[in-house]
Amino acid sequence: MASFVCGVLFLLIIISQGNAQYNSVICDNKIGNYEVNSTYQTNLDILLSNLTSNTENNYGFYNFSYGQNGDKVNAIGLCRGDVKQDDCRSCLNDSRGNLTHICPIQKEAISYQDRCMLRYSNGSIFGLMETSPWLYLSKEINATNVKQFNEAVGNLLRNLTGIAASGDSRTKYAAGNETAPNFETIYGLVQCTPDLSEKDCNDCLVGAIAEIPSCCDGKTSGGVIRPSCNIRYENYRFYDAPAPSL
Ligand SMILES: *[C@@H]1O[C@H](CO)[C@@H](O)[C@H](O)[C@H]1NC(C)=O
Ligand SMILES: *[C@@H]1O[C@H](CO)[C@@H](O)[C@H](O)[C@H]1NC(C)=O
Ligand SMILES: *[C@@H]1O[C@H](CO)[C@@H](O)[C@H](O)[C@H]1NC(C)=O
Ligand SMILES: *[C@@H]1O[C@H](CO)[C@@H](O)[C@H](O)[C@H]1NC(C)=O
Ligand SMILES: *[C@@H]1O[C@H](CO)[C@@H](O)[C@H](O)[C@H]1NC(C)=O
Ligand SMILES: *[C@@H]1O[C@H](CO)[C@@H](O)[C@H](O)[C@H]1NC(C)=O
Ligand SMILES: *[C@@H]1O[C@H](CO)[C@@H](O)[C@H](O)[C@H]1NC(C)=O
Ligand SMILES: *[C@@H]1O[C@H](CO)[C@@H](O)[C@H](O)[C@H]1NC(C)=O
Ligand SMILES: *[C@@H]1O[C@H](CO)[C@@H](O)[C@H](O)[C@H]1NC(C)=O
Repeated sequence: MASFVCGVLFLLIIISQGNAQYNSVICDNKIGNYEVNSTYQTNLDILLSNLTSNTENNYGFYNFSYGQNGDKVNAIGLCRGDVKQDDCRSCLNDSRGNLTHICPIQKEAISYQDRCMLRYSNGSIFGLMETSPWLYLSKEINATNVKQFNEAVGNLLRNLTGIAASGDSRTKYAAGNETAPNFETIYGLVQCTPDLSEKDCNDCLVGAIAEIPSCCDGKTSGGVIRPSCNIRYENYRFYDAPAPSL
């Protein structure tokens, strides 16, 4: 499912069937625009082509800048913790194509795909917790026992939060499963950009979990995707290697 928007603060993606793949681009119209062929545009091109072709980082996180003074561009790329290096690069490159196409003049924009996130801005973004623009994921299927199901989801995601937040400066990611009421298995995943402090990562994830009632109360599938962190749960295993897990 793809959606492209300009200047909104949030999106709700309803996934009605099958495996959830999302692809959304949000352009920021408040920060301001750059001129065609400006230094900013050139810097952004150089930065994104460098970032998406980088073969040195093998941990799926990129925080690079390019340019001087008012024309400096900062970018962050983050791949889901289980995504392999080649896949990560190709996801970021796809995102770059989408961003360039959908947000051709905006100084700040973000792309959310299920396997990676790519954002850039002329302002500082490194090491800072950012919660918007956000994306809600939700599936139109109700769990059988909403109260118990919500509790199980909350427990799983809170436990994963502790593991992810205590990760290092390269990876803050955890995934795992839990058996819910009625023997349904819930699969959860949480991740922060690893440039966040342990406290900011924890705060970002706890805040995202607190939004479950707004995004996906009692649904068998849900997620809150923020620039600095994301949480997601499904009733099927949607990630590969369970890397740091419960
Ligand atoms: C931008 O640069 C390209 C290539 O140099 C040129 O073809 C195009 O006309 C320029 N556009 C503007 C708006 O200056
Ligand atoms: C591109 O990225 C590499 C590796 O991160 C870095 O060493 C190099 O200076 C970058 N080049 C430019 C033009 O940003
Ligand atoms: C990156 O994406 C562009 C389209 O936006 C494509 O032309 C190019 O081949 C891709 N590069 C790689 C290495 O996949
Ligand atoms: C945007 O992403 C979708 C899905 O990954 C892809 O099919 C499409 O070609 C991309 N668009 C651009 C302009 O790169
Ligand atoms: C980013 O660009 C906007 C619009 O041009 C400008 O008002 C703002 O001061 C810039 N921010 C930084 C940190 O340079
Ligand atoms: C799910 O539950 C909500 C609230 O209880 C209800 O309004 C909705 O119709 C249900 N949806 C389905 C598909 O059962
Ligand atoms: C979460 O952690 C608590 C306390 O450590 C433990 O009792 C519980 O079984 C854990 N739940 C899951 C889903 O791992
Ligand atoms: C749940 O996670 C554990 C590791 O914590 C793993 O051994 C088990 O196979 C997983 N269960 C399912 C159904 O994926
Ligand atoms: C990128 O993030 C790492 C922590 O993950 C940090 O050590 C490094 O200083 C950051 N780079 C920049 C340019 O802020």
